[in-house]
Amino acid sequence: MAGDYIITGGRPLNGTVRVPAAKNSVLPLLAASLLCSGPVRLCGVPELADVAESLALLRSAGCTAERQGADVRVDGVPGSGTLAAGPAGRMRASILFCAPLLARLGRAQTVLPGGCRIGARPIDLHLAGLVQMGACPQLEGERLLLTAPAGLHGADITLRFPSVGATETLLLAAALAQGETTLRGAAREPEIEDLAAFLNRCGGRVQGAGTGTVRVQGVRRLHGCSFVPLPDRITAATFACACAAAGGRVELAGCAPRLYAPVLEILEQMGCGVVRRSDAAVITRFGRLYGPGRVFTGAYPALATDAAPLLAAVLLCAEGPGSIEDVIFERRFGCAAGFAALGGRVRVEGRTLYAEPGGTLQGTVLEAPDLRGGAALVLAGLGVGDGSCVRVLDAGHIRRGYADLAGDLRRLGADCRAGRTGTEAGRQTKKL
Ligand code: UD1
Repeated sequence: MAGDYIITGGRPLNGTVRVPAAKNSVLPLLAASLLCSGPVRLCGVPELADVAESLALLRSAGCTAERQGADVRVDGVPGSGTLAAGPAGRMRASILFCAPLLARLGRAQTVLPGGCRIGARPIDLHLAGLVQMGACPQLEGERLLLTAPAGLHGADITLRFPSVGATETLLLAAALAQGETTLRGAAREPEIEDLAAFLNRCGGRVQGAGTGTVRVQGVRRLHGCSFVPLPDRITAATFACACAAAGGRVELAGCAPRLYAPVLEILEQMGCGVVRRSDAAVITRFGRLYGPGRVFTGAYPALATDAAPLLAAVLLCAEGPGSIEDVIFERRFGCAAGFAALGGRVRVEGRTLYAEPGGTLQGTVLEAPDLRGGAALVLAGLGVGDGSCVRVLDAGHIRRGYADLAGDLRRLGADCRAGRTGTEAGRQTKKL
């Protein structure tokens, strides 16, 4: 859903944010619910556009999938192997729904997944692993058909890169496959551990999740369960960076600081105060921000690629130079044009964003390039201290990952509103 963000910066933040369940955990868990013979309840699921798209995908496969207050409930055996093209084409995570359909029906049809345009984002690792397990993929234009005439069987698979999505696809495929699957070079992100914990709660046999080698003993049947997904470390990083950009004191409750430790370490180096508790962190920034030097993303436990644009927004407010290289995605810094339009002294070379001090930030109209880049522009708006207004036009990216970013920032004391939707409002603002 389109909706603009109107920010007048210069106000310090003060308060507590309770970190919601992780989008990147909830989506694979919803895909996993297709494997279960019995109802699944995911507790405390934020109202994100990507969650709504995932529920639509589950319904297109013939399941009941609905919100019940703060929870989501999924029930019913999938009757169709064809996923609705609309939601599938709008979301990267739609590819995760194929392996469970393949496991249960021997067939899955979808369109190539969409999502943020931050790089090439191929699905070759997903497909190569599924082929080793007995699947036959056919790609015709945008349409992908996967069949497994003799069912899926275990395999010894080595990923050349620890892809989060490919690891999830192959865990999902292995859970009901015949025999044992060994996945080497697996991603070690906390969301993988969450998926394994869910599968095991449903009667699955997954060992080693969170390490580079995961072993799955296929079982005949998985039952349903009630499950609380892990908190969203990227949302926690967002509010930590918001506090650094705006100044003030923000407590992030319900999310272990170790899940986003690199972000907290970099903010500390830049001059923020960080107090770590077992499942909370308190960020303070009352003085100057220093440049962080050279910073790199990487696969977990390194700095998350999703946090890179958010940290880049903080760099705009620093009094020293800094750079962030994203080694995961080649076009991560789509927000750099917006930073420059605000007056930030930034440039992108290859995969690296460089920021120099000395820019004077001023309000203007910007366009959200993607989910995290859009959020980063909103954060940059918080750092504009001359009383001018920043308007971020958003075609619907930010709502994919934040249920109410403007409301959450407002509750912390920011002057941030969700404005009228769509380009019409944007055009009028541009004329002002
Ligand atoms: C997931 C997250 C996304 C995060 C990313 C990296 C979800 C829904 N999304 O995306 O927010 O930024 O992890 O932490 O969980 N690759 C291939 N072939 C493949 C698959 C991936 O070459 O088959 C490459 C990608 O182009 C990219 C790298 O591997 O360069 C990482 O991608 P991957 O870990 O798969 O990210 P996603 O699962 O798409």
